[in-house]
Amino acid sequence: MSAADRRKGDGTLHEVSTPAEVRAWTAERRRAGERIAFVPTMGNLHEGHLSLVRLAREYAERVVASIFVNPTQFGAGEDYGDYPRTPGDDRRLLASAGTDLLFTPSPETVYPFGEDAATRLHVPGLSEDLCGRFRPGHFDGVATVVCRLFCMVGPEVAVFGQKDYQQFLIIRRMTRDLSMPIGIVLGPTVREPDGLAFSSRNRYLTESERSTAPLLHEVLEEVREALLSGERDFASLEGHALARLEKSGFAPDYVGIRQAKDLAVPSAGSHELVVLAAARLGRARLIDNVLVQV
Ligand code: PAJ
Repeated sequence: MSAADRRKGDGTLHEVSTPAEVRAWTAERRRAGERIAFVPTMGNLHEGHLSLVRLAREYAERVVASIFVNPTQFGAGEDYGDYPRTPGDDRRLLASAGTDLLFTPSPETVYPFGEDAATRLHVPGLSEDLCGRFRPGHFDGVATVVCRLFCMVGPEVAVFGQKDYQQFLIIRRMTRDLSMPIGIVLGPTVREPDGLAFSSRNRYLTESERSTAPLLHEVLEEVREALLSGERDFASLEGHALARLEKSGFAPDYVGIRQAKDLAVPSAGSHELVVLAAARLGRARLIDNVLVQV
């Protein structure tokens, strides 16, 4: 079947909020021989999210997106209460990008026995490193909610953004480990013209912080260039990048050069690398990464 044949969306955005309604909708689509691609989000949608919806359309006849600000992936003192919620704009954007079904469950639907009593998932190793070190429990919350959403939606394919590369690897590992018949697709990071990756949290930046923010991507690109020109002293490259960020007003959590497939520290034989960073700038915690083939 050609990609054009798969783009069957009828241009109408349906919205449901319970698993029973999602299943009734997907069952009808399946009876018509259609497949489902799924894009989970926390809303406050931007061009990065919409690019995933468009990519999802390449993989299936129907696209389901979800909006759920997941309490279990926010740590104490993080921005769960303040997380931007813009449902009206989100609906309009999802419809324009060709979403067929919007799933907006309540916390009681996703966690029917309450958050504390919820069955939880932990993906060892991958979840504890990098962002996991600075946001303990965060990736357990992500794996837990994505598994629940997968159970409710039952997609053939789910699409995740490279901007959250560690999250993508954790979800891919989870699906393989649990034999979930769901293909996990990675969509490229979408950036503002000055290089800053689109993020719902960019709105926390003041005007002056916003003008500093693109440096995060610039520094990652410099590390990438150094790796491409043969530099292999990873610790010194990471240290130099951290110092550059600190000097410009960031409070960096980490800069790491890792193997792209599993985030292990690279060895001499590693050719597919990823350079990842997380840094706080004012109220915002920004993350970014670039892939490098050496
Ligand atoms: P959220 O931050 O809303 O992101 C939803 C999806 O959009 C994720 O796959 C993320 O990687 C992708 N995304 C965000 N910014 C992007 C950008 N600039 N370019 C490309 N893709 C981008 O990630 C989450 O929500 C949650 O953790 C979730 C997976 C929904 C579980 O709660």
